[in-house]
Amino acid sequence: MARTPIISGNWKMHHNHFEAIQTVQKLHYRLTDDDHEAVEVTVHAPFTDIRSIQTVIESDKMKIGIGAQNCHWEDKGAFTGEVAPPMLAKLNVSHVIVGHSERRELFGETDETVNKKVKAVLTHGMTPIVCCGETLDEREAGAAESKVEGQIREGLSGVLGNHVAASVIAYEPIWAIGTGRTATAEDAQAMCAHIRSVVRSEFGGDAANAVRIQYGGSVKPGNIAELMGQPDVDGALVGGASLEADEFAAIVQYRNH
Ligand code: PGA
Repeated sequence: MARTPIISGNWKMHHNHFEAIQTVQKLHYRLTDDDHEAVEVTVHAPFTDIRSIQTVIESDKMKIGIGAQNCHWEDKGAFTGEVAPPMLAKLNVSHVIVGHSERRELFGETDETVNKKVKAVLTHGMTPIVCCGETLDEREAGAAESKVEGQIREGLSGVLGNHVAASVIAYEPIWAIGTGRTATAEDAQAMCAHIRSVVRSEFGGDAANAVRIQYGGSVKPGNIAELMGQPDVDGALVGGASLEADEFAAIVQYRNH
């Protein structure tokens, strides 16, 4: 089954709403209709930017998907500082990153909260980008596969197969994030294939064939083509190299390299 590649820019805590508008406009200018046919593109802006970029994306009919980096799992309530999934859905957010390693390591997210968030995002008609990945110590101890497998089994626990099929999983080895150190294409392929086999055993063949798996961790214009050439790598979650429209566009246009 052909899976449409998906390349997502994770801006993290960068770009105020003016910078966000400029970046989206420049990205739109750089990308062609052919690019949008070939690759789904999303940008995951800080919450304070989302309304601003929604306005320009919709008024100029840009084919750039509006993403968020996190959300709470409840629809509303006394949760100071949190943002609810229906608030994002109302802004036409299509994709929400869930369980990024920075949120797990710095903000105490667990597989259990990831699972609640995944279900809440799906309930509100949005697509979760569910992150997983091992530390360098875990990789060197030969525990990378079991770590990632546990994150996937627990993060997707109780989710319906058709919802898993429509979801995105991002494999991001923690040692490769923001370090300039990318997993080799072979290592990325091996883990993405393993993730697909875990999905197959838990949710069946249809879900495994349909779910899109991104690689993330120091993705750049110079390494994207080789990563995208791997059969189980369906896209990329791009941090640093997504902040500049030119660089991110060059990644989206990996087919031309
Ligand atoms: P990076 O970040 O591309 O800057 O390594 C990737 C991510 O954290 O999603």
